[in-house]
Amino acid sequence: MWFPVGLVDQIPVDKPYAVQVGEQGVVLFRDGTGQVRALEDRCPHRRVPLSLGKVIDGNLRCAYHGWTFEGEHGRCVKIPNLDSNERISPNLGADAYSVSVHEGFVYLSAKLPGQDGEVTDLTQQASDDFLLTAPEALDGERSASGSFTVTMVAADYLAALLDGPHLLLSLKGVCITDFFLGDVTRKPDKLILDRTAIWSNNRKPPETAWGKSGLLVRTELCPRESVARLQLMDLGDQPLLSVLMAIVPGKRGTTQVHWRCVWRSDYAASAPLSIKLRGVGNGCPVSLNASVEGEAIADLLPGPSLYLPTSDYDSMVEPSSTNASQKELVNQQKDWV
Ligand code: FES
Repeated sequence: MWFPVGLVDQIPVDKPYAVQVGEQGVVLFRDGTGQVRALEDRCPHRRVPLSLGKVIDGNLRCAYHGWTFEGEHGRCVKIPNLDSNERISPNLGADAYSVSVHEGFVYLSAKLPGQDGEVTDLTQQASDDFLLTAPEALDGERSASGSFTVTMVAADYLAALLDGPHLLLSLKGVCITDFFLGDVTRKPDKLILDRTAIWSNNRKPPETAWGKSGLLVRTELCPRESVARLQLMDLGDQPLLSVLMAIVPGKRGTTQVHWRCVWRSDYAASAPLSIKLRGVGNGCPVSLNASVEGEAIADLLPGPSLYLPTSDYDSMVEPSSTNASQKELVNQQKDWV
C-alpha cells in the first residue's frame, strides 16, 4: 500500500525534510544519487528527531551524538567514538520506508523490499483507478504546485471535496454549481462525481445555470490512499485543467494538502469576452483555500460523501521494520556514546 506524503520538489538536495503522517513523523532526504529516502523521524539512540540532523555523503547523521544512517534500509553505518574492537551490529538502525515518486508526489510504503513478501510496485498501482496522474492531453502544458495545512481532519476534507468543493478551492472565472450530472459512480478503488459549472465571476450560480453549463467539474477520489483529482472539462469532455491533491492527515486534527495543477494554455478560450477581459487566462487558474470557513463546512449537507469509506492511513504509520530484537539491540548499544 502506497501513500503520498508530499511533493518531491520540496525536498532539498542537501538537508533532511520532515513530513507528518498523522502522529507519525517521517524524515525525507536524498542519498548520494539524489534518490529520495525515508526514515522514521526518531533516532533509535535517544529519540531525537533525525530531521534535525545533517545529510553527509548521502547518509543522515543525527544531530545529537552523530549516529549516521543510510536511507535504503535505515542501517546505522557510523557511531562516533567506537573503540577499534567494537563493530556496529547490522541489525541496528532507524525504521525505514520504501519510497516512490510519481507525478511529482512522494509516496511511502511501510514495507521494505523483502519484508512480508513483495512490495507492491507503485507503477502497477498507477492503473486507471489511481488518481494522481494528469491527463495526457495536458502533458507539457502549464503547471503549478504547493502545500498548506488546514484546520480540519482529512476525512472531512475529502467529504467536503465531494459535497462542496467551492468551499475548498476556486477556479478562475468559473462558478462550480451544485447540479450533479447523475449519481456518484462507484468503482472498487474510487468514487467519481460530475457536476456542472459555468463561466462566471460570481461564486453563487444563477437560477438559470441548470442545463446551460457548458462546463463540468469531475471530482474523483481514492479514499483509501486519500488522494483526489478535480478536473474542469469543456463541452467536448476535454480537460481544461487537472488538480491533483494528496490529502494527508496531520497532527491534532489538521490536514496537509499537497497539490499540483496542470492546465491548458488556452484555458479560458471558450469563456465569454467579459470574463476573458478580467485576465482569467493569466497565471494558475486554481486557488486552494488554506483557511476554510468552519460554519460553511458545518452547514454542508452530506450528499455524495455518504459513499466514502474510511481511509487506510492508520495502517501505514508504524513502519514494519520495527521489531523487538532491534529495540533490544538499541537498548544495549545506546550507552556507547
Ligand atoms: S540521539 Fe541520535 S545519536 Fe544519540
